[in-house]
Amino acid sequence: MEVVVSGIRSTGNLHLGNYFGALRNFVKMQHESRCFFFIADYHSLTTHPTPSDLKYSVKQVLTEYLACGIDPEASTIYVQSDLPQTAELYLLLNMNAYVGELERCTSFKDKIRQQPDNVNAGLLTYPTLMAADILIHKATKVPVGKDQEQHLEMARTFANRFNRLYSTETFPEPHAFNFGSSLVKVPGLDGSGKMGKSEGEGNAVFLSDEDAVIRKKIMRAVSDSGPTESGQPKSDAVQNLFTLMGLVSDKSTIEHFDESYNNCTIRYGDMKKQLAEDMIKFISPVREEINRIGADTKLLERVMNEGKEKATESANKTLREVRSIIGFRSLY
Ligand code: TYM
Repeated sequence: MEVVVSGIRSTGNLHLGNYFGALRNFVKMQHESRCFFFIADYHSLTTHPTPSDLKYSVKQVLTEYLACGIDPEASTIYVQSDLPQTAELYLLLNMNAYVGELERCTSFKDKIRQQPDNVNAGLLTYPTLMAADILIHKATKVPVGKDQEQHLEMARTFANRFNRLYSTETFPEPHAFNFGSSLVKVPGLDGSGKMGKSEGEGNAVFLSDEDAVIRKKIMRAVSDSGPTESGQPKSDAVQNLFTLMGLVSDKSTIEHFDESYNNCTIRYGDMKKQLAEDMIKFISPVREEINRIGADTKLLERVMNEGKEKATESANKTLREVRSIIGFRSLY
């Protein structure tokens, strides 16, 4: 059976980008494959969270996994730092990861720009830790959004390099995956790039947002001054609104606004109102589940403990093999 691994960083609440890029696929895949979904709390340390923020975020991501329909019976849900075997594999893979290739990684270059005062080694080796997450379970499919494509390419490089170096076939090649073929990039509300937490307040709609907050964010989304002639191409900001509509609205609604854009009668206020209502329709049942599950501390504890056990069994098997191949004593 095919093995699937993916994770989301514990940096707070999840947004629509996380959902449509990753989580939606997790839910579908859990019934078809052997799935491991984790909460990437080691990775979140690159931004130096306080212990209480870290604890809150881990619990929140776990809650939101369950609220979106990940079933702990069907898949293994665990906290990344509950599996220190990952850290050992990360160390081993780092020995064959070259500084030059890590420095060329787009996400590293972005981070240098975003946090110039905190360019730590964890940021540089972010892709090796990701590769360790994936290879520790020998996964072949990794459901992620478009922004992770390069990281998956690096995971393949590290897997193949290990195999070549030791003349083994220990690691299969992992590939980024999305149902419906091409990887997804959910745009933000600020008229430019992708939806994301570090892209500024108001750019992202969270699964835990209250109805009034969603309305306010959408009504403030960047648009433009409107088309002046039929067939005019859409600006990035307006295209983003249509892309978001494509995720949550009916086909007929999208067609209606597309037509009114093309004949220059569109009123962005009306379009945003409709988009806000359709988003609320999508998000409010999820939010209610988040509130219900978030209050069930016992359930969350149990899921974390059971997930840790199942993940450990799988990781030990891989590390036993890897340590023996490298020439270390057997430990696990
Ligand atoms: P993170 O927390 O940044 O993102 C989690 C997932 O959400 C997707 N995503 C998006 N997809 C589409 N449009 C967006 N605007 C958008 N924003 C976020 C990301 O592509 C990702 O799938 N490094 C990973 C976490 C990780 C991981 C792994 C993933 C650590 N180890 C091993 C897979 C396998 C990340 O970016 O998290």
